[in-house]
Amino acid sequence: MALVTISSHTRINADLYELTFTAPMDLQTTRYEPGQFLHIRVTDSFDFLLRRPLSLCKVDLLHNRLTVVYRVQGAGTKRLSTKQVGDALDVLGPLGRGYQIHKEDHASLLIGGGVGVPPLVELARQLHELGQMVHAVVGFQSSQQAILLSDLAQYGSVTVLTDDGSIGKKGIVTDVLRTEFCNGFDRYYACGPTPMLKAVQQVLRTADLPGYLSLEERMGCGIGICVGCVHPIMRDGHVANMKTCKEGPVFAAEEVVFS
Ligand SMILES: Cc1cc2nc3c(=O)[nH]c(=O)nc-3n(C[C@H](O)[C@H](O)[C@H](O)COP(=O)(O)OP(=O)(O)OC[C@H]3O[C@@H](n4cnc5c(N)ncnc54)[C@H](O)[C@@H]3O)c2cc1C
Ligand code: FES
Repeated sequence: MALVTISSHTRINADLYELTFTAPMDLQTTRYEPGQFLHIRVTDSFDFLLRRPLSLCKVDLLHNRLTVVYRVQGAGTKRLSTKQVGDALDVLGPLGRGYQIHKEDHASLLIGGGVGVPPLVELARQLHELGQMVHAVVGFQSSQQAILLSDLAQYGSVTVLTDDGSIGKKGIVTDVLRTEFCNGFDRYYACGPTPMLKAVQQVLRTADLPGYLSLEERMGCGIGICVGCVHPIMRDGHVANMKTCKEGPVFAAEEVVFS
């Protein structure tokens, strides 16, 4: 656990915020992975004892700062949204296992839905730095919910879809993931709501493209103690309930069992 200081906190639109704070570790010397999460205490008082998991979104090596982008979902994130620049923030992490980067790949497909998009930004940056071609397919309910498009565009091309067609194409991410579309890619990396992950897994299994899914399980302790975050994972020929906070949240797509 570390107490860090908030350096900026911006409302992106009605219920979406971007929060930047000093990193709890020296980013130049500490290993971290895109897809890991920060477990944040939203207040010092006893009414919110459980931390809230938010994905590592942007890393500023120069100023040793981290950024998360979040949607106000319920009471905890609502309380977080009241924090001011200069306030102290109690942060644990980065925690969990993030996306495995394959240096030998030439082209990577990133797929995100809603507030599943934030971890793809740091992933895109790292893949781009390795010289890989990066293409992101991201879906949102509407233009009001669209986030991080210009950040992703710094590192590659972006296809945007919205349920209502208010920005990009009208539809959902799997509408564009036809086999011909996927042919040029070595691998995919996805994060988003469970129904989207399930559909992506099915479609890209047919296209024979290997990949990773980041699961959005509800979390308690975030460090492998409470067993509140388990998900069935097929490994070594049998299915086991694995702790997504410790063994995940990112798993190889072929391992993830959906009901
Ligand atoms: C690994 C991981 C990374 C995430 N990254 C982001 C991100 O970058 N941006 C973002 O907007 N959201 C992200 N989420 C979802 C975010 O953690 C929840 O929206 C948030 O915890 C909701 O808290 P609340 O108190 O506002 O809502 P409430 O619904 O009041 O929460 C009640 C309890 O349920 C838990 N909870 C509720 N929804 C979720 C959820 N979807 N996932 C996990 N726990 C939940 C809360 O932690 C809390 O303990 C992530 C979730 C996980 C598991
Ligand atoms: S959240 Fe407690 S074991 Fe994963």
